[in-house]
Amino acid sequence: MMAKEPLCTLREDDGAIVILDQTLLPHRCETRRVATLEQAAHAIRSMQVRGAPLIGVTAAYGVALALRGAAGDADLDRACATLAATRPTAVNLRWALERMRRRLVPLPQGARAAAAWAEARTIAAGDVAANRAIGENGLALLRELPGAGRRPLRLMTHCNAGWLATAGWGTALAPVYAAQRSGLAVHVFVSETRPRNQGLLTVWELAQAGVPHALIADNAAGHLMSRGEIDAVIVGADRIAANGDAANKIGTYLKALAAHDNGVPFFVAAPASTIDWDCPDGERIPIEERPAEELRCVAGLGADGAPASVRLAAAATPVANPAFDVTPARLITRIVCERGAVEPARLRALFPERS
Ligand code: MRU
Repeated sequence: MMAKEPLCTLREDDGAIVILDQTLLPHRCETRRVATLEQAAHAIRSMQVRGAPLIGVTAAYGVALALRGAAGDADLDRACATLAATRPTAVNLRWALERMRRRLVPLPQGARAAAAWAEARTIAAGDVAANRAIGENGLALLRELPGAGRRPLRLMTHCNAGWLATAGWGTALAPVYAAQRSGLAVHVFVSETRPRNQGLLTVWELAQAGVPHALIADNAAGHLMSRGEIDAVIVGADRIAANGDAANKIGTYLKALAAHDNGVPFFVAAPASTIDWDCPDGERIPIEERPAEELRCVAGLGADGAPASVRLAAAATPVANPAFDVTPARLITRIVCERGAVEPARLRALFPERS
């Protein structure tokens, strides 16, 4: 079911949730009502909702939707298994499901449905608070960059790690919004992010917020950095391993290499829910392989202004479409999370409970 609603990524609505359908953005702004476990799983799998934190929040609500009817152990198991199978790389999904389980398993069946809604709500609110803190911690880093306050800082980002990808504020874009609130001038270069072009979502967000920006082709990133035209790169993450290696949207690694070669600081912004302490290094992070048609075709608007898909490569063209890559910790200047901003090797120091 589709409806025109005020803008927000996800909100509760009378025993269901309403999501902003990101597969239609930036060309159409439409919401969808998600009322069942299967619809929640479909929303994540089809990327109607996307971005690691938002995937986690949606999964939590998916459990709550599933338990509205029967709330036995088998129902909880089925809900978690269905949602866990949707997308493999963003660990926020597993994190949210484990948290729901921890909260719900000890409860009697009759108390689970209400507790599931409350826990999903708490997870969403926690994400908003974490991202707001990431914004402040990231802003402190931006203020330290040469040129800060004297001219607009030239930042580069990849994919979309803004409010669309979270329950609020975003991760990589949270410091950008914090800079704007505090009067620190920034200009954001946004790479298209082929094949799904999530950079267009970032451009849409920044335009709405009145943040100066420019869309660039993915391949322009190294050139701009080599010319001294970028002060820092800031990206989100889908899973950060215990050693600080960070998986993020495909193409992130190439930006990190170019940043390293040109002495450009490279920041990764993510909440604690994105850190996988059970994963020792980036080699063990599962990388999602997406459908080949995502690469062979491109979505946009046709000449008549209606959404259209244009074929770039023949249907028979062999394709490899890994959706994420891993940036090794050695290429990351700081990891910015809700507890502070540290070199990857010192990440555990921010989480003494993990020592
Ligand atoms: O495939 P997507 O669009 O879900 O990938 C999103 C990203 O890679 C983001 O950079 C990451 O999830 C951080 S979102 C705050």
